[in-house]
Amino acid sequence: MTTVIQGKGLQKSFGEREILKDVSFDIRQGEKIGLVGWNGAGKTTLVKILLNKIEPDKGSVTMWPPDLSLGYLPQSTDYSLSIDFELSEYGEKLMETSKLLGLQIERWDEEDLAHLSGGERLKLYLAKIWANAPEFLILDEPTNHLDMQGVNWLIEEVNDYAGASIIISHDRYF
Ligand SMILES: Nc1ncnc2c1ncn2[C@@H]1O[C@H](COP(=O)(O)OP(=O)(O)OP(=O)(O)O)[C@@H](O)[C@H]1O
Ligand SMILES: [Mg+2]
Repeated sequence: MTTVIQGKGLQKSFGEREILKDVSFDIRQGEKIGLVGWNGAGKTTLVKILLNKIEPDKGSVTMWPPDLSLGYLPQSTDYSLSIDFELSEYGEKLMETSKLLGLQIERWDEEDLAHLSGGERLKLYLAKIWANAPEFLILDEPTNHLDMQGVNWLIEEVNDYAGASIIISHDRYF
């Protein structure tokens, strides 16, 4: 199978603390990867390096194709999952997925969106990622705020998803 993302000799320290030490891997087309580890082990740091949001101290990340489209759900503790995208851009598909996730929104004006709960925001964010149909998925703790309906939706979708994915989770059921 062809490799879609390769990490080579990745190293990252924050101050004196070495977080990643000589991390190398190949992710092949269609592979589903569960990334597990203690709090603070460096999981989020590693995916941010893949996303080019953090520069490694050493090593490199290569993607095939170089413009591989990535769907990224950030960890909710990272920021409050603000709805920082234009909903109208995604239209019908976004509505459809939201509905499947059990998110019923009648109007999409700023006032309503400002008051969405954490779980509702997460659902909207997932719906946006699915509307984009990315070639590669990176989900950082997707189930933390999800109810049973949301978790079951995600399990089925990830099972059916043809692309490769990295999913960080502490949720053993998931
Ligand atoms: N920008 C930063 N500056 C300094 N230290 C950082 C920075 N980002 C992360 N760290 C530290 O690096 C370590 C790894 O953080 P990271 O967020 O990658 O952990 P994690 O494995 O995702 O943990 P969790 O399961 O709690 O989400 C932590 O000890 C964290 O405090
Ligand atoms: Mg993390």
